[in-house]
Order: sequence, then structure tokens, then C-alpha cells
Amino acid sequence: MCGIVGYIGNKQACEIILKGLKRLEYRGYDSAGVALLNGDLRVYKKQGKVLDLEESLEGKNIEGTIGMGHTRWATHGEPNDKNAHPHQSPTGDLSVIHNGIIENYATLKEGLLQRGHTFKSDTDTEVLIHLIEDIMKNANLSLQDAVRAALGQVVGAYAIVILSKNHPEHVIAARKGSPLVVGIGKERGEFFLASDATPIVEYTNQVIYIKDGEIAIIENKELTIKTIDNVIQTPYIQELEMNLEQLEKGGYPHFMLKEIYEQPKSIFDSFRGRIDAKSGNINMRSVRDYQEKLSKVNRLILIGCGTSWHAGLVAEYLFEDLARVPVEVEYASEFRYRNPVIYPDDLIVSISQSGETADTLAAMELAKQKGATVFGVCNVVGSSIPRLSHGGAYTHAGPEIGVASTKAFTAQVTVLTLYALAMAKQRETLSSSRIKQLMKEMEAIPGKVEQALKLNDKIYKIAELYKDAKNFLYLGRGYNFPVALEGALKLKEISYIHAEGYPAAEMKHGPIALIDEEMPVVVIATNNEHYEKLVSNIQEVKARKGKVIAIVTEGNTGLNELADHIIEVPETENCLSPILNTIPLQLLSYHIAVMRECNVDQPRNLAKSVTVE
Ligand code: M6R
Repeated sequence: MCGIVGYIGNKQACEIILKGLKRLEYRGYDSAGVALLNGDLRVYKKQGKVLDLEESLEGKNIEGTIGMGHTRWATHGEPNDKNAHPHQSPTGDLSVIHNGIIENYATLKEGLLQRGHTFKSDTDTEVLIHLIEDIMKNANLSLQDAVRAALGQVVGAYAIVILSKNHPEHVIAARKGSPLVVGIGKERGEFFLASDATPIVEYTNQVIYIKDGEIAIIENKELTIKTIDNVIQTPYIQELEMNLEQLEKGGYPHFMLKEIYEQPKSIFDSFRGRIDAKSGNINMRSVRDYQEKLSKVNRLILIGCGTSWHAGLVAEYLFEDLARVPVEVEYASEFRYRNPVIYPDDLIVSISQSGETADTLAAMELAKQKGATVFGVCNVVGSSIPRLSHGGAYTHAGPEIGVASTKAFTAQVTVLTLYALAMAKQRETLSSSRIKQLMKEMEAIPGKVEQALKLNDKIYKIAELYKDAKNFLYLGRGYNFPVALEGALKLKEISYIHAEGYPAAEMKHGPIALIDEEMPVVVIATNNEHYEKLVSNIQEVKARKGKVIAIVTEGNTGLNELADHIIEVPETENCLSPILNTIPLQLLSYHIAVMRECNVDQPRNLAKSVTVE
């Protein structure tokens, strides 16, 4: 939600900032702006994409080696030029960019209005920069002290960067609840600031993740990190794992397609070095460190949002089926507000691609307050969720830029499968030979995903037939019910077609009323104990003239007469089938969205990382 970039050094800032904003556009893309400090403080902003901002800068003075930029996902105030960031103080001496929400902005604004302030925008952010200047003037404080005093009055979440006309060579940034990373440039005195490391990786691999309640001050070519109470902190410098190539489209027309095609590798990377099919051993640090906890766990509570919640639903089947541990799967946003009952021998597992989802973080904090052990299954290295977790595992899927999650989902399911196998081993709910067999099959999954990707041309043709549908229904049972939900979510978020996922047997309890000759129904009917029941469900759809797109196991001809379209995926173990069966659904939604000329990587109203409630 909103991307921020800052630069101070010897290079021209504007180019670095615009490039960085393009990398962060997945976080929000309804307007963008830059502020450049070069004797004066110049602010340029524009409704629309970063490209619109870039075009609007043509012929303008963009000189300056200090600057900051912002790409917005609107919360307070509609997306337009005046609400775009940066925002300025009344004198124009100060400027701020902000990611997050200042929850008490109305109260703060009321006080400022009474003191004669007038506002140009409808945003919470403008209130903050007015407040800072107001404190500097009325309390006669320095900029740094005024920033700390203002932040002390703020309720809510923020990552901010501030520039001041009267403080050249000076950048102040702060974080509470919204991510912020500092990159240490190769030249002395060169620093980068950003919402995540993607704009920084091109210039340096040395970064510091700013913690909640910390302020970063860059002054006289030096970086100082302090708490909001003015206590100096020792920065922890980390080396970035990502590289530039991972952030490029690499010849694909969209990041989403690239990420779909990366899955043989990303799935492999998520179990690489962690399983040994010969011995049946699991090599995961969290499994070793929490061996006793894992063997005594009475209940798992899996929390996440969106696609990550769907991965949790697949894992519910995995943990219950393989390790015989009771599981509850919760939307993080519901869990955090309903005073959940948590026992000391529960284990909470937070699932998140970004590691910054505000609801998931808040749910984890609540669980920790109640004394629970919390694990994180997360993709972005160094993000907030792994830092807040007691243990857990990275999914190692590599950067996911497309707003619609694809490879992150299959990597999450893979890692959760490893945990289920580890618990099955500890609890002896599966024989050692069965564990080895499942591990062996896991090792075969990347190759089978590769095969499933060869279905692309066939799926393209099916997409051509249904691209104008108004609704879609997705049906699955057991392990593949969450896959139906995920297929429906993918379609609606990138093509704007209404789609519903249902457990197939539930169809007759309501959704069947929707079925007519206009309704495409995607049925996941791969070989398992539910297959015959699914055939009956397909009969029910056909009896009402619905169009059936059936995902079946390779070699199954049983539905050839009944279904309108057959998509054959390689055979695998039922518990691993969600990973494979998701692939054709990702491709179907991708092609339909492209045919409808939708912006696949940046669908309307969405943002990759939802860092507000
Ligand atoms: O980064 P997270 O996994 O915590 O994000 C959770 C959801 O916001 C995310 O999965 C969202 O639903 C995606 N757009 C799905 O494609």
C-alpha cells in the first residue's frame, strides 16, 4: 500500500526515484509524485501511473541529488493530483511522503484548523506535515525534535520520509507499522530509502530494515538510527538475497506470466535442501528448534489473507490428514477482532507472501500477547512477519511482482506440506515408507508442473471461448476445494469477472440456481476418492446446460462425453494435487484477463501488499 523511495548522494535523484517507483508500483498506482531538494524544494505530482508523472516532468527542473518519491494507493481522499504525495507544510519548507494511515488525523486536523491552518488535500498525510511545522514554530523545536514530538501524537501506522528546504543534506525517515528499508550506497554518504528492497537492489546489497518506533536521520553523510524517544540504536546491516534479474520481466509480457512459468523452480527452491527422500528426514531449522513444541501441539491455527488464507485451507487438509492435528484456518482480519481462545499448546502459523499484511501482523501480535508460539511462512526475506515470529520458514519463491499471487501460493503450500510431513514423522501418524514416498513425489512435482505448463495453448483456446462470461463457478472437493477458491479469486481480481469457488457438494444447496447455458463451471475432478461424486456434480451442471471445464488426471477419458472441455494434468498424490491443479487455473485467468485488455500486473483497486487495515 503506497510505495516510497528516497535518495541522498552524488547522483541525480530524480532518475533513481522514478525507476524505484516503477519497481514499487505493485504497492499502489493511482497517483505518484516526487520532491527534489536543490537549494529549493520542488514538488511534482500527478494522478495516474508513474509513467504519467514521468511524462509530466518533461521540461521541468528536475536537478537535485536529494529527493523522494511516492506511488499511492488511496485511503483518505480520492486519487487525484491534489491528494497525491508529497505533501507540503504551510510555508512549503517541509515535504513528506507517507505509507500507512494516521488514524487520529481528524482530531489533529481540528486542532490545526483552530490554529489557522488551511489544507490543500483531503489526506491524513498533509495533517502530519502541518503538525510538524506547527510544533517547530510554536514550541521552537528543531526539525528532528519536532518530528519526534509530532510522531508522539500520531495514532496509526506510518513509514515516512521528510525533506526540508532549510536542511539541505538532511533526510529524516521513520517507521511504525509500515515497512521501511535503508540501503547503504557504495559511495560515502550515499543512502537509499524504500518501502522494500526492490528499488535498492540495483545499487547496493547492504540494507538496514528500520524497526517500528525508529527514526533514521541522514545528516552530514552519516546515518543515525534513533528510537522515537531519542535513544541511539546500533544498526544491523544485512545482505540482500535478491538480484536485479529477478525484478525484470525477462521477455514475458507480464510479471504474472513470468511468475506462473517460474513455478517449477520456485517450488523446487521451497523444498530444496529441506527434504531427504532417502532417509525421510526433514531438514528445517524451525522443526529442529521447536521439536518438542511441534510434538505436543494440540491444535494449529493458520492465519492469513486472500491467497495466503487459501494456502492455509489446503494446509488444513494436509495437517489433519497426514499428521492428525486439529486445525483452524482464520482470516487474520477476523481473528484479531474476536477475542479468540488460544491455549498454550496451540501453534499459530501466519502465512504471507509480503510479510507486511497489516491484518496478519496484528493477528500475530494478538496471539503473542496471549502467550502463543507463532510461526511465519513468508516469502519476503527480512519483512515484518518473519521478524515478529518465534520460528518459521521462508518460502524462497523469489520476488513476486504481479499483484495476483501465483508462485507464492504454490511455494506456501509446499512449505506447509513439509511441516505436515515433519509433524507426521514426529507423531508417527504416517509410516516411514509412506513419508519417503510422499517426499519422492514432492521431488517430482516441479517436473510435473513443467508438464502442466504445456497446457498453455489449450487453455488459451478455452479462454477465447469464455472471455466474455459474466460469471464463473469453480468447484472442488477435499484438498481441491481451496484450489477452487483460489481459481475464482485469480479470475475476479485480474479480469473483473464475478467468480465463486465452492465445495462441489455445496452446489446443490444454492449456487445451482445460477446455472444456465451462460455459466462456465470449472470442476477440479482429478483422481481421488471424491471423483465419482464429482462426476455426479458435473452431471447436475450439464442437466442445467452449464458449460463444464474439467481438470482431470492424465489418461482419464471418463468425462470426455460429459464435459465441454477437458484439461489433463499429470497424476500425483492427492495431498500434493493442489500444487499441480492450480496451474491451469492461473493460466485460464491470465489469458482471459489479457483478452479483456485488463491490466494483469496492476489490477484496478488492488495493491500487492496490504499494509493498512
Ligand atoms: O502478502 P500476503 O500474502 O500477506 O497478502 C495477502 C493477500 O493480500 C494476497 O494474497 C491477495 O489476496 C492477492 N492479491 C491474491 O492474489
